[in-house]
Amino acid sequence: MHTGELLGSGRSADVFAIDDHWVLRRYRDGGDATAEAVVMSYLGKHGYPVPRVRDPAGLPRTDLVIRRLSGPSMLQALRQGTITAEEAGATLANVLHRLHRIPARVSTDPADRVLHLDLHPDNVMFTPDGAMVIDWRNTQEGPPGLDWGMSALILAQVAVGTAAEVAEARAVLTALLRHLDPAVDLGDGDTGCLTQAKKRRATDPAMSGNEAHILDDAMELVLELKPARA
Ligand SMILES: Nc1ncnc2c1ncn2[C@@H]1O[C@H](COP(=O)(O)OP(=O)(O)O)[C@@H](O)[C@H]1O
Ligand SMILES: [Mg+2]
Repeated sequence: MHTGELLGSGRSADVFAIDDHWVLRRYRDGGDATAEAVVMSYLGKHGYPVPRVRDPAGLPRTDLVIRRLSGPSMLQALRQGTITAEEAGATLANVLHRLHRIPARVSTDPADRVLHLDLHPDNVMFTPDGAMVIDWRNTQEGPPGLDWGMSALILAQVAVGTAAEVAEARAVLTALLRHLDPAVDLGDGDTGCLTQAKKRRATDPAMSGNEAHILDDAMELVLELKPARA
């Protein structure tokens, strides 16, 4: 397929313009995009803000053709000062709430939902149609608390690290946890969704040794900031 300009590059995929309406998203590491294409289509049909996926017939399994989005990512908007940390945390909470209102696609456990499991400020784009959620590589079905736990831990890892955004990440995390779904139980430091989320983060092959080292501090921070009831 003829592709144009490289529009973006994350940890695992490159995104190229095809034309004004479509982009090609390609895994650099041979990752298989077929499962997430099915999930994205399912969510789109339920009115969830995901880019539309074009019929993947004939594409290599590493590739997805999806609707081209315009606008900054939440991370860029934070850096540019066009949104506040409070707004970012509230928006992350909102897209988690909305995702978890949709029935699971395959699981028969009534508590399970479609989870994103990597919902952080670089995977939300602010388009003229509102916030859209991208990068469904890690999607699975399970308890919503696991999704909240993953988002919280990702932010907390930045907040306890050495990046320039330490204070901002803490503020986004604080806002996210303030909007935590009252029905969600994150558990404590030994058991529950947050502990499960930590195990996942620890085994994520994309994490460097340094990041793994600060997971304990990140977990502590989430436990400190989460509402007492959760
Ligand atoms: N539908 C899209 N339209 C325009 N740009 C996109 C689109 N999807 C992704 N991008 C750009 O490509 C980058 C990487 O995409 P992403 O799906 O998050 O892959 P990764 O798994 O590598 O993080 C994004 O941060 C964004 O800048
Ligand atoms: Mg990404």
